[in-house]
Amino acid sequence: MMTGNEIRESYLKFFESKGHKILPSASLIPTNDPSILWTAAGMVPFKPFFTGAAKPDYTRVTTCQKCIRTPDIESVGRTARHHTFFEMLGNFSFGDYFKEKAIPWAWEYVTEHLKIPAEKLWVTIYLDDDEAFSIWNKVVGVPSERIVRMDKDTNFWEIGVGPCGPCSELYVDLGAERGCASPECGVGCDCDRYLEIWNLVFIQFFKDEEGNYSPLASKGIDTGFGLERVASVLQGVPSNFETDLLREIMDFTAGLFGLKYGADEKVDVALKVIADHCRAITFAITDGALPSNEGRGYVIRRLLRRAVRFGRLMGGEPGTCAQSYLD
Ligand code: SER
Repeated sequence: MMTGNEIRESYLKFFESKGHKILPSASLIPTNDPSILWTAAGMVPFKPFFTGAAKPDYTRVTTCQKCIRTPDIESVGRTARHHTFFEMLGNFSFGDYFKEKAIPWAWEYVTEHLKIPAEKLWVTIYLDDDEAFSIWNKVVGVPSERIVRMDKDTNFWEIGVGPCGPCSELYVDLGAERGCASPECGVGCDCDRYLEIWNLVFIQFFKDEEGNYSPLASKGIDTGFGLERVASVLQGVPSNFETDLLREIMDFTAGLFGLKYGADEKVDVALKVIADHCRAITFAITDGALPSNEGRGYVIRRLLRRAVRFGRLMGGEPGTCAQSYLD
């Protein structure tokens, strides 16, 4: 079984062996990018390298980026896989390789290094991306019935103003027992059966403030590999929150309330929310954001309030968490 730390290191080393420079995570507070509040993906610090606005020192880079994403906040704790704070591993090409390498490398890493059985893997591609289809099918050998074409909502990546493009995702089928049992359940279903673990973005457009897309002078690769999700698969646990990356925080919090994880569903949701939000708040404040009434500060305040509210649902007195974390 691989620990979260071992997965992180193995990913970075794999891409180092493919000529990538390992760089440290950037701050959660984006630099010179008023179009977004948080670094919400590994590619955010590299936008100027994709557009050509700045020249990178390396054309192949790999990172483990701390990310904050809040649109899914209401799903945190209720699903196995949603977070406001998470770590995204990624490999990036700035005008260097494109799909022909990104796709086979992703497959090689997942099947040969992580040893996830090929027959459990599913792939999505953007509607008309026949090139990606052909690489997955002919070069890698994924059967055509496990390559699903999806529309712009799911298979086109963009964040604020800047570089963007169609994408291709890798999913693990966790088995029917993890699914919703609906006859329509399949890749892309909201339930926990098909877990997206890797998003490969084929960067080739620039999106401006008005929402217009124009082709970039050179194409690039931006991938996002969810550390917590992959840890849950490799560790054989039912959610990200039971991996070694988060479980300790939940057990510690449960202890503060004299409770145990796994005994009551409502308590479990609360413990997951608190674990997630405490990580987000801690990393955000470490990177220089502070609670306030607007922007990033308001997000921290909201996370703090939600964590406290879920603490109260478990019967905590005001200050239970704060006091104990200080002790
Ligand atoms: N930017 C893409 C994502 O966040 C791939 O890294 O999913």
